[in-house]
Amino acid sequence: MQELEKTWNFDENDWVDRYDKVVADETGMYERYSEVLDTVLQRARVGGGMRVLDIGTGTGNLALRCVAKGASVVGLDPSERMLAGARRKAESIPDVDFQRVEDPFLNIPFPDASFDAIVTTYAFHHIPHRLKPDSVREMVRVLKPGAGWALGDLAFESQEAERRALQKGLLGEEEYFARVEELRPVFANLDTELYAEQFTPVTWVFWATVAGAQNAH
Ligand SMILES: C[S@@+](CC[C@H](N)C(=O)[O-])C[C@H]1O[C@@H](n2cnc3c(N)ncnc32)[C@H](O)[C@@H]1O
Repeated sequence: MQELEKTWNFDENDWVDRYDKVVADETGMYERYSEVLDTVLQRARVGGGMRVLDIGTGTGNLALRCVAKGASVVGLDPSERMLAGARRKAESIPDVDFQRVEDPFLNIPFPDASFDAIVTTYAFHHIPHRLKPDSVREMVRVLKPGAGWALGDLAFESQEAERRALQKGLLGEEEYFARVEELRPVFANLDTELYAEQFTPVTWVFWATVAGAQNAH
């Protein structure tokens, strides 16, 4: 597979304007969308008074669910058009801050130990495999020791499982789908155990309680 020049290759087409309708249908790659988002919040233990980071926030669906739980949220995304949708929905909500960042999985514009939790859904597949370990270290850097981290996305147990799914035509196109077998050792190197649960033939939720920011360097 060809590596991308930039890690965000999101095609800003008509699909952006239809995004919320597409996910509400909960079909295809967004099967069980709402349940995946709720599970991510639960696994990251998002709750009242927490400061949470949502990476690849898009139209803000996950960020707004954090606010509903009483957390304050920063939502980062490289796409102005997606963020415009998020800002429209959050107009009168004080506890959410949407920011455009070029590469928010790799350069998080916050100091070490800034957040009580990180959540992210349907965005990590934009990060090439060779950069996923850097991204995990960058996320852990901005988390407080003992903080929760959870990710929901198109993903697989292994490269072999991904190959079989692609063969069966379960996915439209090849992207950088995370694999349990590739992420587990990355977290293990940070003294952190990674947990994983499959939701659909192509969707998983991953979560961890990070040992501490000092291990990320
Ligand atoms: C399918 S949407 C998911 C939005 C939201 N998290 C949700 O679950 O509804 C994918 C989002 O990832 C963003 N994105 C694309 N490349 C990215 C990258 N390299 N880093 C972070 N976000 C990226 C897109 O702009 C888009 O908003």
